[in-house]
Formats: sequence, C-alpha cells, structure tokens
Amino acid sequence: MKVALVAAECAPFAKTGGLGDVVGALAAALVRAGVDVRVILPCYRAIARPDGDWPVIAALTDGVVREATLPSGVTVWLLDRPDLFDRPGFYQDAEGHDFADNAIRFGWFGKRAAEIVSGGHSVQGWKADVVHAHDWHAGLVPLWLGFKTGSPPTVQTIHNLAFQGCFPSDTVASLGLPPASYQADGAEFYGRLSFLKAGLYYSDAITTVSEGYAEEITTTEFGFGMEGLLQARREDLSGIRNGIDTQEWNPATDRWIAQAYDRDHLNGKAVNKRVLQEALGLCADAAAPLCGMVSRMTWQKGTDIVIETAERLIGAGAQLVLLGNGERPLEQAAVALAARHPAAVAVRIGFDERLAHKIEAGADIFLMPSRFEPCGLNQMYSQRYGTPPVARATGGLRDTIAAYDDTASLGSATGFLFYEDHAESLWGALEGALALYRRKESWVRLQRNGMDRDFGWHESASRYLALYRRVAARKKESGHLAEHAVRQR
Ligand code: ADP
Ligand code: GLC
Repeated sequence: MKVALVAAECAPFAKTGGLGDVVGALAAALVRAGVDVRVILPCYRAIARPDGDWPVIAALTDGVVREATLPSGVTVWLLDRPDLFDRPGFYQDAEGHDFADNAIRFGWFGKRAAEIVSGGHSVQGWKADVVHAHDWHAGLVPLWLGFKTGSPPTVQTIHNLAFQGCFPSDTVASLGLPPASYQADGAEFYGRLSFLKAGLYYSDAITTVSEGYAEEITTTEFGFGMEGLLQARREDLSGIRNGIDTQEWNPATDRWIAQAYDRDHLNGKAVNKRVLQEALGLCADAAAPLCGMVSRMTWQKGTDIVIETAERLIGAGAQLVLLGNGERPLEQAAVALAARHPAAVAVRIGFDERLAHKIEAGADIFLMPSRFEPCGLNQMYSQRYGTPPVARATGGLRDTIAAYDDTASLGSATGFLFYEDHAESLWGALEGALALYRRKESWVRLQRNGMDRDFGWHESASRYLALYRRVAARKKESGHLAEHAVRQR
C-alpha cells in the first residue's frame, strides 16, 4: 500500500509541537509495517542541510520537489518555493505574528501536494493509494481531490480543532479553488474560507488523536463551531490515540540526560534532578518535590493556572520549572514569577528539545493543566520517565492517565487528574500528589506503573492501516458503482 502523509510539520525536520512528533513517528511506524510512505512537507529554510540543499527530483511550474530522508529512513518530498518558505519560522515571524501570506503559502502547498500524490503531476511515477492530510495546513488536499475523479481516497486528521485556517472569502478566487467548494456544504465557515473545514467536509474519513477528544469535538464546548459538521459525519469520525517515539523518549538510552535509568534503577533519576536543579540555579534540595512543565504557553495549555498556583506550591516546599514559549503576557508573568522566587522557580522561554528531555528526567511531577487536549504527548513521556503527571481530565489526558484517587488503593494508577480549569482544582490534585510523594514506597509504585505502560506506535499504526484499507476498499466500491451507473445510463 502506498500512503502519502501531507503535513506542515515532521520531526526532526520541522516541529513546533506534537504534530511534528506524530507525523515523523507515524511515518516510521507505517514503514515498519511494510507501507510505502511519502511525507509531503513544505521546504522550510530550517530543513536545509549544512552541506547544501536536498536533491531536486522533479520540477513544478512554480517550484521544485526535493527528496530528503529522515534519520528513521522515511522518504520526505519537500515542496520548494523559496518566496513562500525560505524564511525563518514556520508559521510566524520572530515577533510571534502569523505570516500575512499563510493562505497563499499553505494554499500553494495543498494544491501542489494534491497534484503530486494523485499522480496528476507525476513524480517518479508514484501515486498514493490513500492520502492522509494533517490539520488545517493540508486541509485543501481533500478538497482538490474531491473535485477530481479517479483520485485516491483521503483521511483528514484533526490534531487541534482550535486552529482552523480561516481566511477572507476572496482567498477562494486567489487560490483558484472551485467556486462550488465555497458554500456551507463545503469550505465556507461563517463567511470565511476554512482550510480545516475543507478537509473535514471533503475527506473520506476523519480521525482525531484520542478517543476522548473524538467524543468531545461533537459538543459545543469543544467543537469550536465545527460540531454540527462533525456530528453529521459521526459515522466517518474516529479517535486513534497518538503513540510516542519510544526510542527518542527512553530514560534508559536518552543521550541528553545526565544519568540513564530505568524502573529498577530509579536512583539515576535523583542524579538528573540534582543536575537539573544546579543548571537552572534552583536550590539543590533532593527532598523538595520538583514540578516540571514543557509546553506552548497558551490558554489551551493552562499556563496561567500554573502561575496562579505557584505561590502555594512554593509554600508547600516544592519547586517549579517551566519551559515554553507562546503568548507574551504569559511568558512575562512566568518570568516575573521566577524573578520573585529565584531559588524555587526557574523559567526558560524558548524551544529547547534537550532541556525538555532533562526536565522529563529530572522533575518529580509533571504538570499538564490543559483546558482542552486532543491527545498530548508529554504526559506519556513523563509516565515513561517515572515523572507522574498531574493533569486536567480532558481529551487524551483522561484517556492516557490512570488516576490515583486517595480513597482507593494505588492499583495501576499512574498519575493525578483534576476536573475544573482553575487553580483551586489544580491545587487539590497537587496536594494529593505531594502527600503521596512523601510516602516513598507508594510513590515508587506509581512511578513504576507509569514506566511499565506501553505507549509505542504499534497498535495505533495498525489502526491507521486498517482505516486506510477500509477507505481504499470503499472508494473502489463506490468508484465501481459510479462507473456501473454511467454504463447503465
Ligand atoms: P501540542 O502539540 O499541543 O503543543 P503535545 O503535548 O502534543 O502538545 O506536544 C508538544 C511537543 O512539543 C512535545 O514533544 C513537547 O516536548 C514539545 N515542546 C513543546 N514546547 C516545547 C519547548 N518550549 N521546548 C521543547 N519542546 C517543546
Ligand atoms: C496538537 C494537540 C496535542 C496533540 C498534538 C499531536 O497540537 O494540541 O494534544 O498531542 O497535536 O497530535
């Protein structure tokens, strides 16, 4: 089977969050399962090799296709148009503003990707059996293919429904989209063109990245206005939980951490904690529970809730490390908090993969107070690193954390969940976590429960594969039916 994954991110080439991790790891897992995969990605400046550009394998009317290989061996086709992608940043400028030409950038990307994967513009004679589009950036691919007979079937995955790729209505004409696509039964969304809605409307199947979120997005609370369409397509909508890259995120082999460790050698974790405390300028107190958080600093992630809870945490003798970047007011509030409590709070603004690994390994407790979370990866990394998560019970967090509830025995618990999106609720869960942390034997049991869980890609990749087979079979059948109908006429 030949599958094209069309996306704006693919780790380690291009990553701003979980989308990059997931596309890179899913592609590798599919290849391991025997699938012939092409990842189709914009050719950002950041992808260039130090020793020159990736080789050109095909010319487009207004750009070229380059072929690159991921460290995992996956083949990536980079759609290169320097005026659109040869600049610093993926979606935003250095000040954090979206590029003004994002509709043109990803509009071009989607159009050319659709031509290439369907064999309309032949590249090495390759044509996909199934096209898998990710998030809004690739949402026009199902639209273009939906208007072309004989196209391969499409799957649209929602990684985050809050990002809908909405642009003024005149974008329809500037991108040359079929005028018939711009209607309520199509890509129009409250008077604007939505790339994501295009993907949701024209794809043959829709998935999202956890079963819990698949349920949630059919409600007004989590549907961001798309719930009606998602309800109408409920039959075609399913949740497939993200896996994690268990090689990249393995405390026993992690190259970025001070001391490797595993479930039977948790002493190594204490070394990572001390090294992290020292590196961050925190008081090197082995007994102080160290809480870590690595995320985009946004409303979704609940950074504000953590900042609001911080003084209570410090009052209880705990420490806090925050790594992230995003909304300026949240970044500033985090920095100000650290300035007030330099021995107990460390804040690093920026994107730093190595530090993310060191925090997973060195922290005692991991914080994810998300307001919504389609899947979330860090709570799975943290369970694997023996750093039990304290998370809000939403989306993929609820699906992947077995909550300890202090009225029950520890059983197979791996972390803590809380329910309301405010500081009081988070603090309630943290008090439970801090109390358990002081009961060393129970804490080690909680750590090991998490470390024993298997969050690898195997099962989820098989589910995607089964879905690809289903949409391919269905398309073939409806194609035959259509031909049959034509012959009858
Ligand atoms: P989202 O995709 O919504 O940002 P996920 O939990 O799915 O959330 O994935 C986030 C990924 O990005 C994780 O791999 C996380 O470690 C990483 N990440 C987020 N912010 C940073 C940062 N500031 N530095 C390093 N890694 C980060
Ligand atoms: C999104 C979501 C996150 C998910 C990631 C990868 O960015 O916010 O929950 O894990 O995509 O699917």
